[in-house]
Amino acid sequence: MYNMHTMLNKPIIAASILSANFAKLGEESSSVISDGADWIHFDVMDNHYVPNLTFGPLICESLRNYGITAPIDVHLMTNNVDSLIPKFAKAGATYITFHPEASNHIDRSLSLIKDNGCKAGLVFNVTTPLDYATHVLDKLDMILLMSVNPGFPNQKFLSNVLPKIKEARQLIDNSNKNIRLQIDGGIKEDNIQTVYEHGIDTFVIGSGIFSSNNYKETIKSFQNKLSQIKYTAKG
Ligand code: DX5
Ligand code: ZN
Repeated sequence: MYNMHTMLNKPIIAASILSANFAKLGEESSSVISDGADWIHFDVMDNHYVPNLTFGPLICESLRNYGITAPIDVHLMTNNVDSLIPKFAKAGATYITFHPEASNHIDRSLSLIKDNGCKAGLVFNVTTPLDYATHVLDKLDMILLMSVNPGFPNQKFLSNVLPKIKEARQLIDNSNKNIRLQIDGGIKEDNIQTVYEHGIDTFVIGSGIFSSNNYKETIKSFQNKLSQIKYTAKG
């Protein structure tokens, strides 16, 4: 368990619209935000890096035009990230994260995100070593740890990510930088406290929210689980 006295960032719930009804994405996105989610998590899949295909910058822009003002957290599960980064920045992305093994030049891709005015992050599959982050901590606003193999919603949480959460938390704390530590995949009411206790401060939740018939109650109940654990929040 993570040292309770250490300061963590304020917990953030990022609702993954991969599990929303795509035929009414604007309405669904605005509902989860007004029902208490902090961010929209936007899963971009290209049928190459992962065996599934979702949405691109035009849809992100449509959400902005629809009136979504909450942060949009774009998770690229694609190859050729450098060509997509400026397009997503223009489309209104707040964060852009990518998988290091999908970029030929990680430092360059991170700079591209920052130069385009977005916050940047690296995403680690369960088997991807955290070493990719060590020499680019200056450019990171977030480290995302996958707790499923990326590509599909509603998969089972892989608990072998737990020691990795601790390792990443230590890396961040030792760096003294303000880097969020995010988890994505299989987060449900029965494991959110465990990952929080291991050092996660940013929680992607897809099916856990969208498969419920009352988003507000569900989000509140996730938040209650978090509030039962006492950390001193950084703000
Ligand atoms: C998985 C995606 C996730 C997914 C999480 O490839 O990156 O963001 O939507 O969904 P749940 O919460 O249903 O596991
Ligand atoms: Zn995701």
